[in-house]
Amino acid sequence: MANIPEHVVSEYERLKDELNQHNHCYYVLDDPSVPDSEYDRQMRLLQDIEQQHPSLLTADSPSQRVGGEALSAFTQVRHDVAMLSLENAFNDTELEDFDRRVKDRLNYAALKEAPEIEYACEPKLDGVAVSLLYQDGLLVRGATRGDGTVGEDITANVRTINSIPLKLVGTDIPSLLEVRGEIYLPRAGFEALNAKAIAADEKAFVNPRNAAAGSLRQLDSKITASRPLEMCAYSVGQFQAKAIPDTHLNMIKALGGWGFKINEHVEAVIGIAACEDYYRTMAERRDGLAYDIDGIVYKVNELKLQERLGFVAKAPRWAIARKFPAQEEMTKLLDVEFQVGRTGAVTPVARLEPVFVGGVTVSNATLHNGNEIKRLGICIGDTVIIRRAGDVIPQIAKVILEKRPANAEEIVFPERCPVCESPVKRAESEAVARCSGGLFCGAQIKQAIKHFASRKAMDIDGLGDKLVELLVGQGVIFSVADLYDLRVEQLMGLERLAEKSAANLVAAIHSSKQTSLAKFFYSLGIREVGETTGQTLANNFGSLDVVIAADAETLLEVDDIGPIVAGYIVDFFRNPDNLSIIQALREAGVQWPDIDQNAQASQPLKGQTWVLTGGMDIMSRAEAKDRLQELGAKVAGSVSAKTVQVVAGPGAGSKLTKAQKLHIPVMDEAEFIEFLSKV
Ligand code: IVH
Repeated sequence: MANIPEHVVSEYERLKDELNQHNHCYYVLDDPSVPDSEYDRQMRLLQDIEQQHPSLLTADSPSQRVGGEALSAFTQVRHDVAMLSLENAFNDTELEDFDRRVKDRLNYAALKEAPEIEYACEPKLDGVAVSLLYQDGLLVRGATRGDGTVGEDITANVRTINSIPLKLVGTDIPSLLEVRGEIYLPRAGFEALNAKAIAADEKAFVNPRNAAAGSLRQLDSKITASRPLEMCAYSVGQFQAKAIPDTHLNMIKALGGWGFKINEHVEAVIGIAACEDYYRTMAERRDGLAYDIDGIVYKVNELKLQERLGFVAKAPRWAIARKFPAQEEMTKLLDVEFQVGRTGAVTPVARLEPVFVGGVTVSNATLHNGNEIKRLGICIGDTVIIRRAGDVIPQIAKVILEKRPANAEEIVFPERCPVCESPVKRAESEAVARCSGGLFCGAQIKQAIKHFASRKAMDIDGLGDKLVELLVGQGVIFSVADLYDLRVEQLMGLERLAEKSAANLVAAIHSSKQTSLAKFFYSLGIREVGETTGQTLANNFGSLDVVIAADAETLLEVDDIGPIVAGYIVDFFRNPDNLSIIQALREAGVQWPDIDQNAQASQPLKGQTWVLTGGMDIMSRAEAKDRLQELGAKVAGSVSAKTVQVVAGPGAGSKLTKAQKLHIPVMDEAEFIEFLSKV
């Protein structure tokens, strides 16, 4: 190092400290201190120095988090202080017994007025236990728990975990510190990891804990580096420092100060009744957490008391885990039914022997699609593992092949729609199979009618979802065209519909006949044809018949229509059932003014992107949008360099600020109305 200029060395140290600091803000505090671009820039400077002066490179360099050379095996590590496990309590009584044992052991019976014990309460994270050793503030070793006495050296892997400090920060850094904690995969990371595995036709992990364990067991630390693992500190093994905290909570706070992530829900309470309250509060929060927890850990807070209590066999007497209901259970797949959704998607639904999992009884789970059935290799009669965690719908995580009965039945995907018998088709690029019945399919009729009647479509006031269910359910109507034949007397016979409402509904249906071409396109419920595409079709082709006759190539000439949407549009209008419904609608009197294609003047805003933001007093936002689209403009939801004009009303916020930054012209509502009167 002798011939490296002093200023390079100090610049290198400065960059290392600064990057470690940014890393801490980003991964531990969830509060980024600089934009990603700045972090990347500093990292490149650091790497440049390391490349020019390799002798400077140390293990605490943030450049080392990407992983290094693969190992051929893990070496063993002996824990100087054993890594214990916890005793479990499954109900309040067992928790109260624990509290009594603690008090007995401390001889509280002999006291006149025995105090309640103070307990530190913390979530029991569902991951993998780890030991991290720091000498003079530097991370020197990471190890698994193993059997509690001997674990494996996973130093290279733990270095890649961003929330693990490579070098401690803050004051009074201990000369020796062995931190214990949990390495876990947050739910979002787990979902993403599995989605990737499934897309690559690889085996998915059953749960985040297995995924975390699998990620740590990698001999190639680059693989570990690619997994979004986190680590949270919850206790200390070896510890040599000037001052030792008096309570567990203060110890945890000290760990936080030295740069570790600590759990945000850690709290000290007095007495076992308060512990039970904490359990209930956390049980309610459990689904909303970003990570899996499988219970609560209670620890006697005062470290002196912990010392007096000591250990039995492999667990401390001063701590206990109160378990939550399991998030995984075993059950049986009884049958598979195929449901047809709004867009005709045919979804296999597993009927299960009811099982209590993640706090609720589950008797159904989606199997998503045919690929999922293949991937799981599942048969009717199989024993499966159901997982229900967080707000995620219950999933079949795994099939237990060893338990497959001799009469297990293969699941056959239907070739015809279970509702209307039209062929089920699957596009090559898609995993989902769909009923090709369109507006003719019973299952799709209800959804199609609800959409047709909705405000932005034909806007039939008074025709809500419940009424649509009733009308279709009782066989009063079979398609959107039937709406126009409904009579007041017919409606009055239905539940809950008084004469006045029936008459109002018929009147609303009648007045919906006058519509616009754009709204009509949207009302048909063609896949991926939303309001904007409806308007695009109307603006560019001017008439329904032109679109019906158009092939994909013609549709693709329009800027905003891509091959997928073009395909859906062509398919829709090739379907004779859809055409006969359109014919019936026209015969019933549904009409709109066609748009004169030659009169360019009718679309003076063609090619322009506008943004509406803030409130409007005179016009409604929907009206303003309609007017702009009629004039050919595209109305976008966010401001970008493409925006040509912003209309900002009272309360406009970030969109207005962005427009001003980008020097995009802004007008208020009065100016907008005046503008409309002139175009
Ligand atoms: S304390 C002597 N605190 O649970 C104390 N453990 O069954 C030992 N765990 O192997 C651990 N969250 O992996 C403690 N807040 C927490 C925990 C926790 C999860 C795990 C840990 C341990 C297992 C014990």
